[in-house]
Amino acid sequence: MELIIDHLTKTYGGKQVLNNVSFRVGEGIHGLLGPNGAGKTTLMRLLATLLEPTSGQVEIGGISLTDKSQIRRIVGYLPQEFAFYPGMSVLEAMDYLALLSGVKGRAERKRRIDHLLELVNLTEQRRTKVKALSGGMKRRLGVAQAMIHEPKLLIVDEPTAGLDPEERIRFRRLLSKFAEGRIVLLSTHVVEDVESTCEQMTVLHKGSLRYHGRIGDLTAAAAGRVWTAELDRAEWSRDSERFPVLSAVPEGAGMRVRVLSDEQPYPGAQQAVPSIEDAYLYLMRREEAFV
Ligand SMILES: Nc1ncnc2c1ncn2[C@@H]1O[C@H](COP(=O)(O)OP(=O)(O)O)[C@@H](O)[C@H]1O
Ligand SMILES: [Mg+2]
Repeated sequence: MELIIDHLTKTYGGKQVLNNVSFRVGEGIHGLLGPNGAGKTTLMRLLATLLEPTSGQVEIGGISLTDKSQIRRIVGYLPQEFAFYPGMSVLEAMDYLALLSGVKGRAERKRRIDHLLELVNLTEQRRTKVKALSGGMKRRLGVAQAMIHEPKLLIVDEPTAGLDPEERIRFRRLLSKFAEGRIVLLSTHVVEDVESTCEQMTVLHKGSLRYHGRIGDLTAAAAGRVWTAELDRAEWSRDSERFPVLSAVPEGAGMRVRVLSDEQPYPGAQQAVPSIEDAYLYLMRREEAFV
């Protein structure tokens, strides 16, 4: 099972929202990282056949994206903004959505729904109205819904947005469970989400591919460019605009700063080992890709 994206381009009016994007993804969780406006949702809507590409090809498990009915059978999608049936109970909503997804037999629907609610830990809430669920529970219901037809590719668009830290962790663990034997494509603008769940990731910025590969290898992009220094407050207020700042923490009478620079930014500044977050911020400032 492989997802192959080949020179994919999407323009709205004259505006290129996805620009000649190519990459391949195998089974497991794959992170799609990028700031707002990077094109993540557009890419996901293309893969879910809700949008038409301007040019380029996609294959999912050997099936061309142009074969929409076949693709819909193997793709599950949890949109960034999703609306449920607030007045229905969890069971009613799931049953209705299963019907819409073409799961015909009543016994088969019940089997799948019971199994999925168990997996997403909502069995106890099965008679609760959707509108009474917490944000985290709604997300878990959303992913159960996207899994109802047992898709080979599960697309989840910024599912951790608005979740508290505990719910975030629980949700990421849930996605890892689903990733066995299938592809889960997870978009986020939070580095930590991919760092703690994915082995491989793709970074988009302004519609272009900036990185594709192992998460750990991303730090190589920023090697030698991350510096730490201790400055007094006066120096800092004079110099704070000179270099891109990764962090600045007050320490005693001065500031402990971490900045990006190709050369030593301040006398006495020390090179630091880049974190994934540093490397991501470095990528966002570069014009070319690092692949
Ligand atoms: N229907 C549309 N018409 C015109 N521009 C759009 C449309 N949808 C998205 N865009 C633009 O495409 C760019 C990428 O958006 P999007 O895919 O939502 O990015 P992301 O999900 O990474 O935040 C943004 O600049 C957005 O304004
Ligand atoms: Mg989006």
